[in-house]
Amino acid sequence: MGEPHRPHLVVLTGAGISAESGIQTFRASDGLWADHPIEEVATPEAWRRDPERVLRFYDQRRDQVRRARPNAAHKALAALEKRGFRVSIITQNIDDLHERAGSRNVLHLHGEILKARSTVDPRMHYPLPRGGIAVGDLCDKGSQLRPDVVWFGEAVPHFADACEIVGEADLLLVVGTSLAVMPAASLLDQAPFDAPCVLVDPEAHVLAPPGVTRLNQFAGKGVPALVRHWQREGRLWVPETLLD
Ligand code: APR
Repeated sequence: MGEPHRPHLVVLTGAGISAESGIQTFRASDGLWADHPIEEVATPEAWRRDPERVLRFYDQRRDQVRRARPNAAHKALAALEKRGFRVSIITQNIDDLHERAGSRNVLHLHGEILKARSTVDPRMHYPLPRGGIAVGDLCDKGSQLRPDVVWFGEAVPHFADACEIVGEADLLLVVGTSLAVMPAASLLDQAPFDAPCVLVDPEAHVLAPPGVTRLNQFAGKGVPALVRHWQREGRLWVPETLLD
């Protein structure tokens, strides 16, 4: 006899899940990209032109992440995993709030701000428990260190793994993302045909493909509410009573 099937929740998160922890989102009118044009801080060209500016921008992001604490949404997902559900988190976020809440299966599509990496060998990572990266900080092969984040125009290294994980979902939960960035947004198309998809985001304007159920709430309220239903019944489903 095989193991009993454990319900598999796959969660795709974006900046909105960390907003209530005090981390700025990108595309709001007061979001990060409003003050820091993408082409000046988040592309390989910007890095070549002005590495100090790019490093300064990511030093600020790192400081913000270090000050932040996981919120009710991060914690609810970790609690569900503790209760025996299989929970896989695919995050576009570069913060470590899912891990600090206790989630164990977290794939970072766009890298991790608390790590540096070599500019000649992307497999060479260096944790950054304190401080930042300066021009002149070198990897063990003697090349400049850069933030371990994926910039616009760069490949997304773990995308194939992410597709495989979404393909094994019993339910896909999407939280706090504008779905404006590819290839991350296309992950919704990888879910099995019969797996429901729920999107938690307070903004009604967010693109939701057909077949996706919308829960127009803040992550810190909507995610724990869903998790409470799932824990109570021991299965993943879409509680219509939560919808507006
Ligand atoms: N709870 C849930 N959702 C929220 C909350 C909240 N408290 N606050 C804001 N949101 C929603 C917004 O309505 C928006 O739809 O979070 C979303 C954030 O969207 P973006 O700022 O575009 O962030 P994201 O989708 O994560 O961006 C994707 O773009 O710039 C790149 O690499 C960066 O990973 C990032 C990617």
